[in-house]
Amino acid sequence: MSFSDSIVERIRHVVGGGRAMLHEPLLKGNELAYVTECIQTGWVSSVGAFVDRFERDLAAYTGAAHAVVVSNGTSALQIALHLAGVRQDDEVLVPALSFVATANAVRHNGAWPHFVDSETRTLGIDPGALDKHLDEIGERRGGELFNRLTGRRISVVVPMHTFGHPVDMAALSEVAARHGLAVVEDAAESLGSFADGRHTGNAGVCATLSFNGNKIVTTGGGGAIITNDPELARRAKHLTTTAKQPHPWAFFHDEVAYNFRLPNLNAAMGCAQLERIEAFIDAKRELTQRYRQAFDGFAGASLFLERPDTRANYWLQTLILAEDRAESRDEVLQAANAAGLMTRPVWELLNTLPMYRDCPAAQLPVARDLARRIINIPSSPQLAGLA
Ligand SMILES: Cc1ncc(COP(=O)(O)O)c(C=O)c1O
Repeated sequence: MSFSDSIVERIRHVVGGGRAMLHEPLLKGNELAYVTECIQTGWVSSVGAFVDRFERDLAAYTGAAHAVVVSNGTSALQIALHLAGVRQDDEVLVPALSFVATANAVRHNGAWPHFVDSETRTLGIDPGALDKHLDEIGERRGGELFNRLTGRRISVVVPMHTFGHPVDMAALSEVAARHGLAVVEDAAESLGSFADGRHTGNAGVCATLSFNGNKIVTTGGGGAIITNDPELARRAKHLTTTAKQPHPWAFFHDEVAYNFRLPNLNAAMGCAQLERIEAFIDAKRELTQRYRQAFDGFAGASLFLERPDTRANYWLQTLILAEDRAESRDEVLQAANAAGLMTRPVWELLNTLPMYRDCPAAQLPVARDLARRIINIPSSPQLAGLA
């Protein structure tokens, strides 16, 4: 049997017959009832009881003091970076191995992504490699960090919790503090992921979530900023809701701001989805166990598993091909997709995309290696029998 067929067979063994999607939303809880309530009451747009409730529920679930819901994860990150102090022409440290939105949000602030390496242990930013890189290219002036090579200020670092696996935030926070950097976590993929008993997104100034259709909790489209800083939360709400001063009838806006509001309709879905998140995660973790058994003893690829002291949400199940099988990646993708098993490579490294090709970058040996070997396989909670 060919290498790709032996992988397809193992996935098929776990997911059974028929097509299997990467991550399909499951909308069988109170979604319909809550959305119907919006329609019947007319509260379908930018304010409403579900918006307020979703913000409270998110704060309670993540353990953050405040949550501000917005139109999507990208707009959340754009505002979060601004509020963390990113200014025009700054550089912002982001993993080269991330979804394009992480870098786009930096450019939306007029700043430049500066790409850094990841580690195989977490699939996220490698704190040790970052520390070494900043020692090499950084220079402290007046309490701020500058890139000696470009002359630009480096203000923020954005760890991203890849596929729901937490970055080593204890180590990363230490490196950030040593170099005078603020931390904004891109937690778009890690709602429900904890490290040392703490929900991801609580280690820095603030963090951002995404509720895109493919995420563990979806509102159709949506996002949030979570923070423990009340003033940052107040600014986030103000800036994302056109900076309108509260008044029963007058329109007074006190700065140039955004309409990044999440409609009540979408928030209604979010409330219903969040009610079931632990069931989604239980099903995904059950799926992990089944894949683990199916790939046990298989030399060509291994399932990526959570680190000790973390609870990953296992948003996307991840296979890492063996070194000597990296060349077969596209053949595996071709065979699996042709068999109705939706599988994907990880993103092209962001520093190789046309608009980011000339941006500063550290050495990226691990990100480059991982990019050749990662394959995401069907991960929907339905595949473990959840209805
Ligand atoms: C790592 C990461 N950052 C940011 C985003 C952007 O979120 P959205 O699609 O809601 O704008 C996503 C997902 O789409 C993501 O996976």
